[in-house]
Amino acid sequence: TSATNQFCEAGIKYEESGCGLSSSSKILITGGTVVNAHQQVIADVYIEEGVVAAVKSNIKVDDDVIVLDATGKFVMPGGIDPHTHLGMDVLNTTTVDDFFTGQAAALAGGTTMHIDFVIPVNGSLSAGLKAYQKKAEDSCMDYGFHMVITKWNEDVSREMEIMVKENGINSFKFFMAYKGALMINDELLLEGFKKCKSLGALAMIHAENGDAVFEGQKRMIELGITGPEGHDLSRPAVLEAEATGRGIRLASFSNTPLYVVHVMSRDAMEEIAKARRSGQRVIGEPIVSGLVLNNSGLWDPDFTTAAKFVMSPPIRAAGHDKALQAALSAGVLQLVGTDHCSLNSTQKAFGINDFRKIPNGVNGIEERMHLVWDAMVESGQMSPSDYVRVTSTECARIFNIYPKKGAILAGSDADIIILNPNSSFKITAKSHHTNSDTNVYEGFTGKGKVEVTIAGGRIVWANGELKVVPGSGKYIRMPPFGYLFDGLDRADANYLSSLRAPVKRFKS
Ligand code: URP
Ligand code: ZN
Ligand code: ZN
Ligand code: ZN
Repeated sequence: TSATNQFCEAGIKYEESGCGLSSSSKILITGGTVVNAHQQVIADVYIEEGVVAAVKSNIKVDDDVIVLDATGKFVMPGGIDPHTHLGMDVLNTTTVDDFFTGQAAALAGGTTMHIDFVIPVNGSLSAGLKAYQKKAEDSCMDYGFHMVITKWNEDVSREMEIMVKENGINSFKFFMAYKGALMINDELLLEGFKKCKSLGALAMIHAENGDAVFEGQKRMIELGITGPEGHDLSRPAVLEAEATGRGIRLASFSNTPLYVVHVMSRDAMEEIAKARRSGQRVIGEPIVSGLVLNNSGLWDPDFTTAAKFVMSPPIRAAGHDKALQAALSAGVLQLVGTDHCSLNSTQKAFGINDFRKIPNGVNGIEERMHLVWDAMVESGQMSPSDYVRVTSTECARIFNIYPKKGAILAGSDADIIILNPNSSFKITAKSHHTNSDTNVYEGFTGKGKVEVTIAGGRIVWANGELKVVPGSGKYIRMPPFGYLFDGLDRADANYLSSLRAPVKRFKS
């Protein structure tokens, strides 16, 4: 089929499970620096039956074990991307990467798990879940689901409970933007936060003031600004900061933990910093495009070039990128996603005469591990341990699947990468593995190369070759009441008892 040819062009090989390089086998990784978020140590790693069996020095094994020499290299947990959109329908089209091609590309870049956003069907969560289960059937790496909430009624409320208790979903996302489509109002946000809290599920927000964005877009069109730069001008950072601050304050009012997705501006980051300083449980997720790009691309005179950078919130002016990097390094922001939402230039061209019709989204699932290593570790802003924390461990902790994921410990899933810090990478649309004809990181080079990816105990990426198995990826159930909820009941009890303290009034 033509789909198969596409994978071949991208250099992806299918492999029947049970044979060859990609079958789950016994693997020994020797002499590398094993990096976990809590510690780095030179040790061997022994893998059997898809899990880490031992981490210690001088492990002796039989002849039937594949031995990988990692001397002088870093052995780290595979990346977990907390924010992707594979096979998502957007503005009458569908992203070019489905679960299989997007995941194959991810594996070539050292990411071994992702969490995708299920979009309800006509407001039905269960119908949405069913559709996404189908999309994910050919998965070649492990994945989990967040669920988007687009409207509010008794059914939605009941279905949220079913998603958490029966379907392994422990997070719900609310869009404060995309008026007329996914956007919700404050009333729904309050209902949603309350429900999330009672279920031990994490509330997530896309933070932009959707009404103001709508107004800003009208303003640009009236001024005759119809190109991609209009996207930038119509939704400035102040609208992201406003919604971030509002979301944070409403979460505080419900005393519920909050996760802000794709923090793109210094302004929004400062709102998160302020809330965290006051003790509020707020997580901030920068994405790769916000960390390493600026808005110059959006202003490119060539439409095709400019349009590929259109995503929301917009990639900001130079300066925001460095501020977000510093915040990540300081721990003000906690983990890095991609918002991978890949669209080709034909799809982007739907908006040739009107930037509002350009489908939003950029790539990143394949590039994240390399770009974050180069921008944060190679630059000296972050240690390898902190790199593991922001690319893998913190995501596993937040979504309550640690240490099965996010660590190289005896008993953890064998999702492991070997990164050579002395090798370099170069990104081009010609050589990438995603299905898009463009790449927002075109021409980027840097230090540090993922030379081997092991997913579920299989060597799926080595010597520049991908060998993936459709259907080998597993759905990872994520239980509710992760660490962000620990001790929260104390705060609620204290709050309630403060309300019940009688007010003494004097009789006149
Ligand atoms: O432009 C973006 N970010 N597209 C994906 C959907 C979303 O808002 O996360
Ligand atoms: Zn081929
Ligand atoms: Zn979003
Ligand atoms: Zn997104």
